Amino acid sequence: MKAFQGFIEGRHPLGPGLLLHLRCPSLEPPCSAGQFFLVRCTPSPDIWDPYPRRALFPALIEPERLTLWLADANDRGLAWLVTQPEGTRLDLLGPGGRGFELPPSRARVLILAQDEGLGPVWPLLRRALTEGHQVTLALGVRRGDLAVSPEWVPVAVEYRLATKDGRAGREGDVFDLLSGLEEWPDRIYAALPRAQWSRLRAWIESWRPMIEPGFAQVLVLGDILCGIGACLTCIIERRDGRLTRTCVHGPVMDLTTLA
Ligand code: FES
Repeated sequence: MKAFQGFIEGRHPLGPGLLLHLRCPSLEPPCSAGQFFLVRCTPSPDIWDPYPRRALFPALIEPERLTLWLADANDRGLAWLVTQPEGTRLDLLGPGGRGFELPPSRARVLILAQDEGLGPVWPLLRRALTEGHQVTLALGVRRGDLAVSPEWVPVAVEYRLATKDGRAGREGDVFDLLSGLEEWPDRIYAALPRAQWSRLRAWIESWRPMIEPGFAQVLVLGDILCGIGACLTCIIERRDGRLTRTCVHGPVMDLTTLA
């Protein structure tokens, strides 16, 4: 990870989160969806409260520009971040970890996101379109007022929406959107709560005899503090019972190693 500075250019809401736009003249490519940035949330280098940097995912990746996804309004560091005026200079490290990998040739791509999983898959969706893939986005959110309006979604994307309260789209969660998509995807990318990983595996196994490595990639939305494998905060248990550090071996991991 490299240290660099970002300057706040603006913010606006997107579904269940907030987009924080930064100008980052010294940001060097490559950076891919699912990688993270560690952002210091204090007003000066002399102030160390809150001490840990916040691990944030990019929601847009452009030359010399980065848009970060903020989805936890109760976090003290992020609460500070969203109140900073335009021009505020931020201290960042990144990108860290492993991101999503798209196939080298044109493919049918299914992207699944539940609630705060939306932001981290957004740049994947855009890149998949740029590279000529056919994309379906299935998004589940808990309330209708957190739904992403279809105008925000590129027209080339087949957009499916479900809300828990039934006030927008279909009533239910992201798994209530998958009817008719059996055998359709060549690749699946997901940002779902851990409790849904086994549901995803079960759904795929209902129509595919074998899940080969790389077919389904999952973003682990867990706590990341140091981002370099030193503090062990991000450890999760894999399907085979072994422990792994998601900041080093993820946060994007193969579904078959997780569930
Ligand atoms: S965040 Fe410290 S080991 Fe992963």
